[in-house]
Amino acid sequence: MTIPRRSGVPISANAGRPVMNAEWSAFLREYLRHPLRTAAILPSSPGVARNMAAAVPAEGDPVVVEIGPGTGAFTGEIQRRLGGRGRQIAVELNDRFAAQLRTRFPGVDVVTGDGVRLRQILDGRGLDYADVIISGLPHALFSQSLQRRFMDAFRRSLAPDGTLVAHAYVHAAWWPPARHFRRLLETGFGKLAVDNVHWTNIPPVFVYRASRMYQPHREYSDAGATVSGRSERANAER
Ligand SMILES: C[S@@+](CC[C@H](N)C(=O)[O-])C[C@H]1O[C@@H](n2cnc3c(N)ncnc32)[C@H](O)[C@@H]1O
Repeated sequence: MTIPRRSGVPISANAGRPVMNAEWSAFLREYLRHPLRTAAILPSSPGVARNMAAAVPAEGDPVVVEIGPGTGAFTGEIQRRLGGRGRQIAVELNDRFAAQLRTRFPGVDVVTGDGVRLRQILDGRGLDYADVIISGLPHALFSQSLQRRFMDAFRRSLAPDGTLVAHAYVHAAWWPPARHFRRLLETGFGKLAVDNVHWTNIPPVFVYRASRMYQPHREYSDAGATVSGRSERANAER
């Protein structure tokens, strides 16, 4: 891929932003090592990062968890919005990315591990819930069973009035695994919004914003999944 130059500064084709060569090449290198779990060849653009981080409340001391931060495209924006408030946790499976994040964001609690263990990660820190979960994971590349495990972890970890944000690739939106993930969001949460497409991101993405309109309960399992748009509690009351 040709990296265009402006004023002698290499810029990413991803939204034309100035990019640190080190970040870009680290991402590409990890993509070549782990293509399925890294999924993209470039970090997300600043526009996507702003959209994802917009879920961080402007007030209070929220617990914000990011799953799959990679080189930190969203991490910096989340940190900026928090401005020292609350708690910021980033869970990254790739130990090289995790090590880089610790150096770059010393104020962030970086966990090297599997985001599917989010409930245990919060328990280990004495935290009841996350107010915001921002997923940078390539959910459409996951098997249906792994998608369900993640949904289970998200539902058991998100505060009753919390928000889950996830991005999805436009080119893959009609793939059966991508549709399966969307169905899980629709049935697992009371409310699902889909944001506009970020066409300048490579690859283009759109953003899901899911919130729950009911009390969570930690024993959720697939067997307890709800019909579209209806809350678990409403089902239990029927
Ligand atoms: C598509 S990249 C997104 C990186 C970054 N959020 C961005 O948008 O630039 C997906 C990231 O999720 C990480 N990842 C994949 N599976 C994971 C898992 N089970 N738990 C935590 N992180 C995971 C990958 O290592 C990679 O950093």
